[in-house]
Amino acid sequence: MVKRNRNLRKTAAIRDLVRETVLNPQDFIYPIFVVEGENIKEEIASLPGNYHFSVDRLEEIVEQARDANIKGIILFGLPEEKDECGSQAFNAEGVVQKAIKKVKELYPELWVITDVCMCQYTSHGHCGILRDGEVHNDSTLEYIAKIALSHAEAGADMVAPSDMMDGRVEAIRNLLDENGYESVGIMAYSAKYSSAFYGPFREAANSAPKSGDRKTYQMDPANLREAMREIQGDIEEGADIIMVKPALSYLDVIRSARDRYDYPIAAYSVSGEYAMVKAASQLGYINERAIAMEMLLSIKRAGADMIITYYAIQASAWIKEEL
Ligand code: PBG
Repeated sequence: MVKRNRNLRKTAAIRDLVRETVLNPQDFIYPIFVVEGENIKEEIASLPGNYHFSVDRLEEIVEQARDANIKGIILFGLPEEKDECGSQAFNAEGVVQKAIKKVKELYPELWVITDVCMCQYTSHGHCGILRDGEVHNDSTLEYIAKIALSHAEAGADMVAPSDMMDGRVEAIRNLLDENGYESVGIMAYSAKYSSAFYGPFREAANSAPKSGDRKTYQMDPANLREAMREIQGDIEEGADIIMVKPALSYLDVIRSARDRYDYPIAAYSVSGEYAMVKAASQLGYINERAIAMEMLLSIKRAGADMIITYYAIQASAWIKEEL
C-alpha cells in the first residue's frame, strides 16, 4: 500500500500543524564582547554585525536583546593588560566585572552568563597556567575558581568555564558555595572540541595561543564517546547545564547527549559557523536568512535546549516577521 506521506506537506497550514521543532527567541543566548575604554562600539571584522562595546555603551545592545525577547547573554572580556597568570580576569574592577554590574543595572531579569577562561587574559594566550611550557591542570583550577567567584561577586547569574581543565566544575562549585554563592549556577563547556571553527572568535577576542595549540586540553574532534565521559564528569561535579561546542559539525554529540542525559543542553554555534554563512552570503552564494535559520533549527532538532549564537538578535527578528 502506498503511504500518502505528502498529505502532511500539502499546505502551509498542515506543515505548521505537524512541525516537530520550532525556534523561539527564548532558545537563544547572545554573546557580547566588552572592551576597556569609553564610548566604543566597533564592528568586529571577523564577525560582521557584532561589535566590541565599552561598558558605557552596553545599553544599546542590552536594549536590543530585550526588544528581541532574548533571555540570556554570555559575556566575554578583552582586558587592556595581559600577564602570565591572567590577573585581570579576577580583578574586581576588570572589564567583565564592570560589564556584569552595568547589565544588571540596565536589565535585572536578563540571565547573565560569563565565560570563565584565561586565554584572553594571559600573555601566552593559553587557557591556564604554564609550567615547563605545558598548561598545568591543578594550578590552573585555583585561578579558574577565583575568576568564577569574582564574576559571582559582580552579580553574574551563571558562570561558564570554557578552559577544559579536569576538575574545574567541582573547584568552582566548592569556592562559590564556601563564599555564599550557592545560587550561582554553572554552565559547563563539557564537550568542547579543539576546533578550527573558533578562528574568528580568537581574532575578535585577541585570544589565540602565542605558541602551540589547545590539543592537550580541548577534545579531539574525532571522539564521541569521550564527550560522554566529559559530560558525565561535569554532571557529577555539579554542572547545571552541559554544553556541546561547536554545534554544526557536532550534531551527533548533541543528539547522543540528549538521549543519555536529563540535563539541559546548550549548544554553542561558534564564530566559524557564523562567519562562513556571512561570507558566503556576502558573495551571493547562499541565502543568509534561510541558511542561518536551517542551521539553528538543526541544532535544536539534534536536542539542544538553548543555542549560543551570534545570530541571536537577528534570528529573533526573523522569527517575529514570520509570525
Ligand atoms: C575561550 C573561548 C573560546 C570560545 C569561547 N570561549 C575560544 C577558544 O577556546 O579558543 C570560542 C567561541 C567561538 O568561536 O565563537 N576559551
